[in-house]
Amino acid sequence: MKRITIAIDGFSSCGKSTMAKDLAQEIGYIYIDSGAMYRAVTLYSIENGLFKGDVINTEELKRRINDIHITFRIDPETGRPNTYLNDVNVENKIRTMEVSSKVSPISALDFVRKAMVAQQQAMGKEKGIVMDGRDIGTTVFPDAELKIFVTASPEIRAQRRFAELEAKGQEVNFNEILENVKQRDYIDQNREVSPLRKADDALLLDNTNLTIPQQKEWLSMQFNKII
Ligand code: C5P
Repeated sequence: MKRITIAIDGFSSCGKSTMAKDLAQEIGYIYIDSGAMYRAVTLYSIENGLFKGDVINTEELKRRINDIHITFRIDPETGRPNTYLNDVNVENKIRTMEVSSKVSPISALDFVRKAMVAQQQAMGKEKGIVMDGRDIGTTVFPDAELKIFVTASPEIRAQRRFAELEAKGQEVNFNEILENVKQRDYIDQNREVSPLRKADDALLLDNTNLTIPQQKEWLSMQFNKII
């Protein structure tokens, strides 16, 4: 069977990664969460004192960008990939509100994007990959055979993220999450380098009123149409 490249882009917290992970597992493809990579760079910047309040020391980050190694390893218990920053498992640390509130300005930096896109393209060289993010169909894999652009209302996305963080035992505030979702949408859509937008040849999926099984079925159908 031919192996293809699948690009899933869309707004924050719209359930992209759930559908991408499930599809990859079902069809035996590699799954890469590109957002986790930008989150790991953000965590690195926080932990290494590169933020003064909300201001990033971009010169220092630029000097260190090649020292930031991000990899994914499958957790043998869950079968799901965990994110490693310089060989340390940071899967939980990169999902906090602190990282969420600082990640969009980090991912708007052109040298950060260049470094991450190069790593992502290397990961997808052999095809057989499902990658989710903001610019996968437009910049990372413009030739992907299947491109999906996912959207949902900001309120429903904030509700989903609220439930997810609460389930992990984090103390969360719905309005703070909604604000963060809207703010990230704005920065992601308006940045100069690779702004979030639907590729012309991407299929649009608004999943505001879909359950996870329904969207999974829709995605499998799109994959089967191509294969
Ligand atoms: O997907 P997730 O919400 O975890 O991504 C975190 C942030 O990383 C996004 O808000 C966006 O700023 C950035 N990102 C990006 N390009 C990607 C994936 C994520 O700029 N391909």
